[in-house]
Amino acid sequence: MFAKHVYADRRNRLKKEITEGIALFPSNPEASFNYPANTYHYRQDSHFSYFFGINLPGFTGCIDLESGEEMVFGNDFDIDDIIWMGPQPSVSDLAAEAGVHQTFANEKLPDYIRKAQQQGRKIHFLPPYRGKVMIELSTLLGIAAQDVKALASIELIKAVVKLKEVKDSLEIAEIEKAVDVAWLMHTTAMKMAKPGMVEQEIAGTIEGIALSYGGAVSFPIILSVDGQTLHNHSHHNILKEGRMLVVDAGAELHSLYSSDITRTLPVGGKFNQRQKEIYEIVLKANMDSIAAIRPGKEYRENHFLAARVIAEGLKAIGLMKGDVDEAVAAGAHTLFFPHGLGHMMGMDVHDLESLGENYVGYDEHTHRATQFGTAYLRLGKKLNPGYVLTNEPGIYFIPALIDKFRSEGKFMDFVNYDKVESYKDFGGIRIEDDILVTETGHRILGKAIPKSVSEVEATAAELRDWNKIPGVF
Ligand code: GLY
Ligand code: MN
Ligand code: MN
Repeated sequence: MFAKHVYADRRNRLKKEITEGIALFPSNPEASFNYPANTYHYRQDSHFSYFFGINLPGFTGCIDLESGEEMVFGNDFDIDDIIWMGPQPSVSDLAAEAGVHQTFANEKLPDYIRKAQQQGRKIHFLPPYRGKVMIELSTLLGIAAQDVKALASIELIKAVVKLKEVKDSLEIAEIEKAVDVAWLMHTTAMKMAKPGMVEQEIAGTIEGIALSYGGAVSFPIILSVDGQTLHNHSHHNILKEGRMLVVDAGAELHSLYSSDITRTLPVGGKFNQRQKEIYEIVLKANMDSIAAIRPGKEYRENHFLAARVIAEGLKAIGLMKGDVDEAVAAGAHTLFFPHGLGHMMGMDVHDLESLGENYVGYDEHTHRATQFGTAYLRLGKKLNPGYVLTNEPGIYFIPALIDKFRSEGKFMDFVNYDKVESYKDFGGIRIEDDILVTETGHRILGKAIPKSVSEVEATAAELRDWNKIPGVF
C-alpha cells in the first residue's frame, strides 16, 4: 500500500468532483473456480483499491460527499479465520492504513444505506462487472439485479475517470516496475523460442516470472505462432522454423499496477526476408506513432498515422496498391490491421474500461468511429500529461478475413489479393509498448525491451539468464 495520505488525497479530490450523496465502493469478493473453497487468485477491485487500499475481500468503502465522512464496513476476523489464514489485522487497523478512522461491521451497511435512501440522498456506485457484486448491490439498494449496471452513477463514472486517468509519480513508478518485469518475461521468451519447444513451456515460464515478483500476469498470456488470432490463449503448438511467435504478456505487481507488452520474433531467432519485410513495417508504425505522442493531440491521429505507415509499407512490397490516403480513408488497411492502436493502462491493463470504454477513450469532442476495425480503437481522445497508454500496431494475415473481403469484392483497388493469398501461412506481428504522456511529449516506460531486428536476433542468440530486476519487489 502507498502511504495513507495518498488515499486520503484521492478521496478528497473525489469530494471536490461530486458534492452530493454518498459514494459506495464494494471490494471484490473471492471467486470460485470449481467448488466454493477453491478460489481463483484473489484480485481486488481496482477502484476500491484506489480509494481504500485494502487488498482483501469482504469490505465496502463509503464516502459521504456532503459531510466528508469516510467509512469502511467489514467484519473482524474470528478464530476460525485465524486458524486457516493466520493472524489478521483488525478492520480498524486496515482502514487506518488508508487514513479512514470510522469502521463498522457489515451488518450495519444496509441500515446506513436505507437511512440515506429515506432521506432522499443519492447513492453513487460504479457499474459492477462481477455477478456477485451485482447481486450484492441489488439487495443493498433494492433494485433488480438486471438494472444495477444501467443505474450506475454517470457522475461517479466521470469523476473516477477524471481522477484515475492522470497518473502521479508513485503510480508511474509502479507501472515502470511492472514493465521491468515484462522485460524479463519477454527477453526470456526470446531466448527460449527454439524449434521443438512447445508454446506452453514458454508461456508457463514467463508467467512464473510474473509470479516471482509477488504479483501475477496482468491478463492471460497471449503466446502463439498463430498470432493472426488476436487474443489467442491456446499454447499447444510446437514451434517450427519459419513461423513468427507473438508474445503479448505483462505483469501485475502486488500494488495492482500493470504492464502490457507485445514482442514478435521468428522461431529460432533469425528473421527470413519475408518476415523482416513485414516486421520492419510494423516497427516503423510503432516508432512513428510513438514519436508523434504529445499532449493536446487526439490519439486517433496516431492511430491513422500507424495505419498510413502500414498501408505504405504493404504497398512497397506489393501487397497493397493505389493511393495510400484513399486506401486508409476507405479502411483497406483494416484487412491487415483490424484493431485499435492502443488503450489506457494503469491498475487495470485496459484501465478504467469497466466503467464503459467510451467514458475512458472518447469525450464530447471525439467520437468512436463506426468503420470496421477503426471502431475497435479504444482510445481516440485528446491526450493529457500523466496518461499512460499502449501503442500496439500490428499486421495480421487472417485467412477467413482475406476470403471474406475478397469474396465480397472489398478494397479491390487497394489490395493485391493474389499476392496476399501467398501470406495466408504467415501468422501475425504486433509490437506493443507502454507510454507515458509527459508535459512536452512522451516517454516509453521501463527497461528498453529488444525491438529492432538486430536487437531481437541478438537477444534470441543469448543463453537464458537468471537475473533479478533490482527494486521491483
Ligand atoms: N493484452 C491485450 C492488449 O494488448 O490489449
Ligand atoms: Mn497486449
Ligand atoms: Mn494492449
